[in-house]
Amino acid sequence: MSQRDLGQNGREQWATKIGFMLAAMGSAVGLGNIWRFSYVAGENGGAAFLLIYIAMILLIGIPIMLAEFSIGRRAQSDAVGSFETLAPKKPWVVAGFLGVASAFIILSFYGVIAGWTMKYFTGYLTGGLWSEPGEGYVDYFVNFITSPLQPLLWQFIFMALTVGIVFVGVKKGIEKANVILMPTLAILLIILAGYSLTLGGASEGLAFLFSPDWSVLAEPGIYLAALGQAFFSLSLGMGALITYGSYLSKKEQLPGATAGIATMDTLFAVIAGIMIFPAVFAFGGEPSDGVGLVFFTLPNIFESMPGGVIVGLAFFFLLAAAALSSAISLLEVAVAYFIRKFGWTRKKTALIIGGLIFLLGVPSSLGQGLLSDISIIGGRDILDSLDFIASNIFLPLGGLMIALFAGWGWKKAEVLEASNFGSSTLGAIWLFLLKFVAPVAILLVFLASIGIL
Ligand code: PHE
Repeated sequence: MSQRDLGQNGREQWATKIGFMLAAMGSAVGLGNIWRFSYVAGENGGAAFLLIYIAMILLIGIPIMLAEFSIGRRAQSDAVGSFETLAPKKPWVVAGFLGVASAFIILSFYGVIAGWTMKYFTGYLTGGLWSEPGEGYVDYFVNFITSPLQPLLWQFIFMALTVGIVFVGVKKGIEKANVILMPTLAILLIILAGYSLTLGGASEGLAFLFSPDWSVLAEPGIYLAALGQAFFSLSLGMGALITYGSYLSKKEQLPGATAGIATMDTLFAVIAGIMIFPAVFAFGGEPSDGVGLVFFTLPNIFESMPGGVIVGLAFFFLLAAAALSSAISLLEVAVAYFIRKFGWTRKKTALIIGGLIFLLGVPSSLGQGLLSDISIIGGRDILDSLDFIASNIFLPLGGLMIALFAGWGWKKAEVLEASNFGSSTLGAIWLFLLKFVAPVAILLVFLASIGIL
């Protein structure tokens, strides 16, 4: 790294404001918007879930996102170090440790699913996925994920790529990759959503996504599912955005950037929904088909369209790339912490931590086939259980602590200054959301869902 890449305090920095925005969006937009959003919304009734999800983004997600950026930029340190700097010897630092633990857990299974997207990309590249599935795409998918070695190989390749980019460092590695790929993915998603609407399942699909069946609001699980999805999709509650905020210069205005990132992330999910659900109905699937939903719905779309091989190829390439830019931010949380903690080089840290996380992900992959008898939480397999613990419990808990810290643990004038709000009305509303609304909402959701564990 050259001297020019470092800020005044010697910390790496983003080259441009747009580079920071794209990196943060790259972290937010990933498998969460396409793979996870569609199957979680599908399992939780669609439109009513979407409304609760959006309410949670507005009342909880956006305020906490801004808090994370403010904390990281002010402290100029990693997820743990930021709390140690801003509130020495106080218990807030627990949020940082919880974040590092979440990064390990989430990336361990994220690498497995991302590996699947890479397999599908190469399936289109070689034509195998196009011509083969006489047995149908569901069987193709199940055969692949239940085989022991192949998914591990793809998970390994994906993790190696992630380590490779974090290895090179924030600015050169993380920022560059996002500048082209993200906008391309957005355009392709919009085209595919438009095409999917011509498939004959449009009215059912749109009704599922936009016309609420209020009876599902009586299910306590829907609130926890929406909360977990909001945190997961926005990359919140574990210090990923504290870490990214720490590479940002003092000049940038945070509130506008935050609103932009959250809006983009939500749009990606909604457009992915418009792409998936009409196709689910058109090809005779069920929205509640679970984790495999996008993997067997999308190939049907591609097969039905002219030039589908190329589109399938481009789609899975871009999805894998979006997964990569999210995985980078997950790994960076742990790497930034261990670089400081042990004084290792960036390269050594990325290799060791990335390797450990790969190993931690192996049971999630094997849990699809070889170890499918093992279920941990409420009948969930290993991957789902880890996802449940990290996304629905650790992230909201971390977010709760971040909100309480920014709202109550930090001097009011300092928080307002760190966020660029100053003494404006919006700043007062933001603090109110952090102090009362977000914590109470998170606690209520936890209380409501105690029975469903
Ligand atoms: N937001 C990412 C996605 O939607 C996943 C992620 C979660 C990344 C938490 C960083 C931190 O795919």
